[in-house]
Amino acid sequence: MTIEIQTGHDLSDEIIDMMNQQRVQEYEINTKNFRQNEQDSTFFFLRDGGQVTAFGMLKPITLIHQGQMTTVLGIGNIIARDKSAGNGKQLMLSIKAYLDDKQRIGLGFCNSHVAGFYRKCGYQVLNDLPERFRYPLASLNGEKEKLSPALNSLCHDPIGGFIEALQSDDDHIYINQPFW
Ligand SMILES: CC(C)(COP(=O)(O)OP(=O)(O)OC[C@H]1O[C@@H](n2cnc3c(N)ncnc32)[C@H](O)[C@@H]1OP(=O)(O)O)[C@@H](O)C(=O)NCCC(=O)NCCS
Repeated sequence: MTIEIQTGHDLSDEIIDMMNQQRVQEYEINTKNFRQNEQDSTFFFLRDGGQVTAFGMLKPITLIHQGQMTTVLGIGNIIARDKSAGNGKQLMLSIKAYLDDKQRIGLGFCNSHVAGFYRKCGYQVLNDLPERFRYPLASLNGEKEKLSPALNSLCHDPIGGFIEALQSDDDHIYINQPFW
């Protein structure tokens, strides 16, 4: 197994097609436009003998909370193509190692049915944060302004203190990009 890391602007048409098709297979619809919206994202491809077995991305996001800006890497587009074979975990461990190496905070959202998976991969999972996020530019571009309160958030903070700062009050947490 090898992990390949690529920036969004270097992705081939072939690999974008593969992700688009996999997203349709998983969700019946692909809501992502990798070529247009993910030029600055970092993509992770887990390969076994050349075949991609799992993939995911980190997207630069700026958060504003208590008037203070923090840049994080939004964890998204996590899919294991071959399931229940340890590929998802290996992918998430590689992403965690990358965040540790770069000393960057990783933050994503997930349904409760996959919360246990992220916990097993060593991520912090919380259910009281997602409903506080707001995307103020939502009405300009037809995006969601807020998330379903049923979602959980997943986080890896190599520095420490990030989640504690967000939990110190109930204020909204504003984001400069649509939900990822
Ligand atoms: C979620 C997903 C990435 C997991 O990948 P996977 O390769 O099937 O999972 P793994 O085989 O690596 O499992 C790692 C561990 O997590 C556990 N696990 C896997 N899915 C789980 C789930 N839904 N809930 C709880 N635990 C789970 C496994 O039992 C395993 O435990 P172990 O380490 O004790 O053996 C994969 O099921 C998937 O692609 N789902 C569809 C897309 C999706 O929902 N992505 C997440 C978007 S937020």
